[in-house]
Amino acid sequence: MQVIERVAEVRALLDAARCAGRAVGLVPTMGALHDGHASLVERAAGECEVVCATVFVNPLQFGDGEDFSAYPRDLERDALRAEKAGATVVFAPPIDEMYPDGQHGVRTAVAVRELTERLEGAHRPGHFDGVATVVTKLFAIAGPCRAYFGEKDYQQLLVVRQLAHDLSFPVDVIGCATVRERDGLALSSRNAYLGGEEREAAAVLSRALQAGAAAIIAGERSAGAVRALITGIVTAEPLADLEYADVADPGDLTPLGRIDGDVRLLIAARVGPARLIDNLGVRT
Ligand code: PAJ
Repeated sequence: MQVIERVAEVRALLDAARCAGRAVGLVPTMGALHDGHASLVERAAGECEVVCATVFVNPLQFGDGEDFSAYPRDLERDALRAEKAGATVVFAPPIDEMYPDGQHGVRTAVAVRELTERLEGAHRPGHFDGVATVVTKLFAIAGPCRAYFGEKDYQQLLVVRQLAHDLSFPVDVIGCATVRERDGLALSSRNAYLGGEEREAAAVLSRALQAGAAAIIAGERSAGAVRALITGIVTAEPLADLEYADVADPGDLTPLGRIDGDVRLLIAARVGPARLIDNLGVRT
């Protein structure tokens, strides 16, 4: 497996693979790889002959006061992890390879309207423009491929799907199920920020989502009641500070009043120094 830092080099390698008739899989990440990322690489390796995992902590998607500097970085470990999961190449560009004029010299931004206005978009201004811009660059660099994204970041998955559609990228965006710890906590690079007690408390997010889903399956049809149930469970945990809990349409994330079809439950909370998100689909 090779680690490539240059855009021209990874582009040439993936072009050559396609010319030789090999399908290309793309797995964009910010590194600090865990079993959740590995599951995307494994899925890609099962469906594509060449799998390119990208490792790039994208400054454009972090707000002021967020954890861009603190974000865990260990390329050597990530390359081994990616290789073990089946990656054939890791693309790990330095910042000036992706943003040669500096991050503030980027004059073009990709903004996906409406889908980005609520939830994460409302709590992290500019975040999705940064995600959409870097994913657009990665799609432009990679060329025709299948691209794997986790449902863990459900709103991001919808945003990426929309941008691929709107901008006519020859990319199939594939959503993959969330990988969880035994107690339900969704794997996240940011879980590394949690101390012992905080780590235990963090399981409240998935517990609250499970309780919300159980209420719907038992017949609850008021989205407000489900929201209140989830909110109550998270606020009962003293180490967790809820940012939002929502019951939304799984297609466009508009908030629901009555539940009369499939829904997505979405939650964000701070636990100690970590800002955590999670979500769960419920079929009715
Ligand atoms: P990152 O947080 O590193 O996540 C990379 C990919 O792994 C995303 O598609 C994310 O949804 C997926 N993922 C994370 N935790 C997961 C879990 N527990 N189970 C399954 N999949 C999981 O998301 C980003 O990076 C960035 O925003 C990026 C798309 C790379 C653009 O910079």
